[in-house]
Amino acid sequence: MTIFRDEKFVFVRACLVTAALLATGAAQAVSQNSTQPVLSDVFMLEKIGANVLATQGEVGFAELTIAQQAELSALAHDYRKCGGFEVLPFNSGLNTKNPLLTEAFGALADREQRDRHFRPSSNLFSSMTFNSDIAAAVDEVSSDNLKSTVAFMSNFPNRLHNGENKDTSVAALQKRIADTVKGAKLDVSIELITHNSTPQKSIRARITGATRPNEIIALGAHLDSINQEWWGDTDRAPGADDNASGSSNILEALRIIANHERPERTIEFFWYAGEEAGLLGSAEIARQYKSAGKDVIAVLQLDMTLFPGAGKFVLGSMTDYTSSWLRSYFENLNSLYVKAQIVDDQCGYGCSDHASWYRQGYPTLMPFEATFNGMNHNLHTSKDAIDENSSFEHSAMFSKIAVAMVLDLGNSTLREPK
Ligand code: BES
Ligand code: ZN
Repeated sequence: MTIFRDEKFVFVRACLVTAALLATGAAQAVSQNSTQPVLSDVFMLEKIGANVLATQGEVGFAELTIAQQAELSALAHDYRKCGGFEVLPFNSGLNTKNPLLTEAFGALADREQRDRHFRPSSNLFSSMTFNSDIAAAVDEVSSDNLKSTVAFMSNFPNRLHNGENKDTSVAALQKRIADTVKGAKLDVSIELITHNSTPQKSIRARITGATRPNEIIALGAHLDSINQEWWGDTDRAPGADDNASGSSNILEALRIIANHERPERTIEFFWYAGEEAGLLGSAEIARQYKSAGKDVIAVLQLDMTLFPGAGKFVLGSMTDYTSSWLRSYFENLNSLYVKAQIVDDQCGYGCSDHASWYRQGYPTLMPFEATFNGMNHNLHTSKDAIDENSSFEHSAMFSKIAVAMVLDLGNSTLREPK
């Protein structure tokens, strides 16, 4: 007999645990009574009776205890928003006059305004025409390679950002990346990025642009995994779909790009640390890029690509924390090279690393395995492993998107209109 778990209940629990983990994930000492600065929907904050200190559009700022964060998370789930809030990476006591908050809201306000006002004019993407070399590169994506990398990563008991496998799993992935590009046509520099908010390291691989090296296209996926079950073997978090899948998509794209002509623009490939504990690695990286004034043209985030929950070759394009311009660009690119069926949907909160970049004002895109409701509900459990529902052909679409985007946008002068 099959033992049915109440999926909804499991998910609510997972959200509650997420809240606790979010609160403890950052390298700040947090006691039950202390508070942390949090961004969430004003509506939600008011529902739990929180004192909303400042707002930017629908996003509110409040100082919340862990109990309040758990309450918010549980409530958020009812509104289809597991997670539902973001802990700001600042010490508690951040007040509304603090320049860090003004800056955080300012970048978000600017970003949101650009997206609200964007209208695709008929000639905006007229320079995008079919290129048979790009189509041939897209055809090189191998589902077998994806399967092999997902198997490799999900073989670790977990890749928890502060667990005992945090270094071995990252080192093994770094070696696999290096092995993959050994003898490739282009030089690829690979480095580890150390963080303050997580002991885990992110990985960055870079192919420097031929003529406009300061213009960057960033492709990323988080490398960590998490188990949020509260029973049984809580150490096991294979994270095959979430997110060995996206990690393998980025590696497969790198393999192909490294063996083609050097793009005009610089291409950076990221495997982020500590996403599951609150977008920790990407938040530091995006903040650092912004303060260094780096010109990031586009950010692609791949997080969960293996489960064709809305049908094979149907993908969700998340419309929150992503930019209108890049989503329009993506539709054009897709019609030329990938031919997926795209369904717009929302996470309802900053559900992955693209939100870190978006908050710093950069254009982002997040194609997802399915619609939000159709996603793989085994995420964050010991059952997130390769199984009969995994489709590496479906997942291959996402590497194709990455390859097409690099070879098209990476060789173009297109950028988000001012
Ligand atoms: N892969 C998930 C994000 C996700 C879930 C995207 C469902 C789309 C649909 C990601 O790894 C994750 O779990 N993110 C956290 C948020 C973060 C701020 C801790 C989450 O959703 O709770
Ligand atoms: Zn994920």
